[in-house]
Amino acid sequence: MSLFDKPIDRCGTHSVKYDEREAKFGTGDLLPLWVADMDLPSPRCVTEALVKRAEHPIYGYTVYPDEFFNAIEGWMHRRHGWRISRASIVPIPGVVPALNFLVTALTEPGEGVLIQPPVYHPFFRLGKHHGRELLENQLVYDRGNYTVDFDDFRAKAKRARLFVLCSPHNPVGRVWSREELETMAAICLEEECLIISDEVHADIVYAPHRHIPIASVSPAVAKATITLNAPSKTFNIAGLNTAYAIAENDTIRRRFETELRRFDLTMGNLFGIEALMAAYRCGEPWLEELLGYLRDNIAFVTDYLREHIPAIRPVMPDATYLMWLDCSDLGMDDAQLERFFVEKAKLGLNSGISFGAGGSGFIRLNIGCPRSTLEEAMERLKGAVENDD
Ligand SMILES: Cc1ncc(COP(=O)(O)O)c(C=O)c1O
Repeated sequence: MSLFDKPIDRCGTHSVKYDEREAKFGTGDLLPLWVADMDLPSPRCVTEALVKRAEHPIYGYTVYPDEFFNAIEGWMHRRHGWRISRASIVPIPGVVPALNFLVTALTEPGEGVLIQPPVYHPFFRLGKHHGRELLENQLVYDRGNYTVDFDDFRAKAKRARLFVLCSPHNPVGRVWSREELETMAAICLEEECLIISDEVHADIVYAPHRHIPIASVSPAVAKATITLNAPSKTFNIAGLNTAYAIAENDTIRRRFETELRRFDLTMGNLFGIEALMAAYRCGEPWLEELLGYLRDNIAFVTDYLREHIPAIRPVMPDATYLMWLDCSDLGMDDAQLERFFVEKAKLGLNSGISFGAGGSGFIRLNIGCPRSTLEEAMERLKGAVENDD
């Protein structure tokens, strides 16, 4: 029995995943396996650090202590073999807000922002919300695997000021190889396109795959890259709104910091700070256990689909607790697929089309939950496929 097997009732905790079911799907009567947090408990050491801090009854303005920066430096070195300097770290309230501030800090209206759909949906807003031109380098899907079309990448990078990389990639689950990262980076350097690398899923990677921070591939790439990361996905603490950017290039970092100051976004969340320090200091044994559990969840879903629902084919994730399922053999259009999952299967998942046109015919399943929840989900799905007329 694993620590992760025990179901935990999240209803009524103001959880987006549970308490917004009605708002998102039009019904509360479904099993929610959508938004990217987990139904699994954070490490004990994180809870203890939060309780200890909560017992001090004053929750006033808080600075980022040295230990916060040391914890990030240590984590990057131990987990990713990446040496960063303390001066390069900029605390931020979230990866998505930082993406937006980087776009406004580093580009002018009308300039190009390059993304690789199907991709995490807030990336699309970076164009629309700020009057920048969104350039889409579609990932290539071939027999269950995703790759980059480098000719198209170069053509679009020529017109782009920023490239927003998702590494590892949500939703397709790819860990980019050193060769792929070096090729993308070389093109960006040649075309004078800065790289923003969203690496928030970097710690949830399944061996033998290994996450390589793109900024670590060479000093020249480090100078052209701003990396975004957080303990939020890894330790299931997204509600604490604490993340960080890593920018070795002083000029770029100062422009970003100026933008954050312009909106007075320099204060931290005191509980987020405590949680990050505790997680990075003593969360590694928990993380190793989590990785094993998630890997078994992926195997469970894959085996179940192969045996009982062969019309739904999983793309095997190298990383993330999100599974990308190819439902095209069900023969439904995207609106029908969405209705099928909500009304027939009574499952609340993310429709593939919400990640861009290349997501048509897919859905995203969050497997960051107890195995028994996935068993229930697969049974519901099997029943719905068998009874579909
Ligand atoms: C690729 C990616 N970036 C960023 C986020 C969210 O980051 P934050 O909560 O720090 O804004 C997510 C959450 O699902 C994600 O998948």
